[in-house]
Amino acid sequence: MTTLRLATPDLELDLAPLGARVHRLRVRAPDGAWRDTVLHLDRVADHLDSPSYLGATVGRCANRIAGGLVQIDGMEHRLSRNEGPHTLHGGADGFDRRTWSVVSATAARAELALRSPHGDQGFPGNVEVRAVFEVTGRELTIGYTATTDAPTVVSLTAHPYFRLSGTTAEDHVLTVPASRYLPVTDEGVPTGEQAAVTGTAYDLRRGRSVSSLVEDVGGLDHCFLVQGSGLREVARLEAGGLAMTLVSDQPGLQVFTGGAFCDDPFPRWAGVALEPQLPPDAVHHPQWPSPVLRPGETYSWRSVVRFARVD
Ligand code: GAL
Repeated sequence: MTTLRLATPDLELDLAPLGARVHRLRVRAPDGAWRDTVLHLDRVADHLDSPSYLGATVGRCANRIAGGLVQIDGMEHRLSRNEGPHTLHGGADGFDRRTWSVVSATAARAELALRSPHGDQGFPGNVEVRAVFEVTGRELTIGYTATTDAPTVVSLTAHPYFRLSGTTAEDHVLTVPASRYLPVTDEGVPTGEQAAVTGTAYDLRRGRSVSSLVEDVGGLDHCFLVQGSGLREVARLEAGGLAMTLVSDQPGLQVFTGGAFCDDPFPRWAGVALEPQLPPDAVHHPQWPSPVLRPGETYSWRSVVRFARVD
């Protein structure tokens, strides 16, 4: 089986066990026609040759870990390094490349599971992950939980690239209610500073078009610290008479405007990845929320993708 179909009269999700992946997500647009809302390759297996993490569940640790090293309780762990000296999205063989098992599936809900053994990509501890996908009306809810039998690092995210209409997202308007963002080095690793967005191109609080961001700062690949806590709106994207609201319980939102898709058949700026997560490289910044997970604790992550017409 390459995908499971979850559907309501107005929303259709093709969910791939390969990478617990939002492979295709279609919504009934205001004109009654079905509209694709996320970038996808034709065949699920093609994702094994893609460097873009299209729609995947990313783990054990989303984003970059500087130098591919983590220290937990004084013990150093050398991780799989798949972006120069750094670890990106869990290492060379991340959760996005695994075939998750299907625990249960109905027409509107599916639960997938993955066991990541001790030493996987260099991370300690046996980790058990569950991913639940559920559709209602024009909404998709994704929930992750994880447990471990030894102290380790867990920070997951879902990695769909949204494109609500057209062939690129350049005309899409993106709003992110964040007053601070994390500047990064040339290698995409946070410098440790939390910069105010006021008066900069990174102020997305009143909405900005992707093309204006490309013009001003060459596009985005940055984590925004979203105001508030708990489940709340973390982003809104609008284009072609459709609005997508993203709700999440995570403190950070990585915004990647799709500056390059390498070997994938998409033009630059074809879609915007909006990835709720803990701050990148948080293992090296004790002042940020910690991604360390210990035995007896349950990691949890939740987000809702909600579509509506723009009036
Ligand atoms: C994003 C990351 C980008 C790039 C992309 C995959 O999450 O922020 O720098 O690595 O994934 O192509």
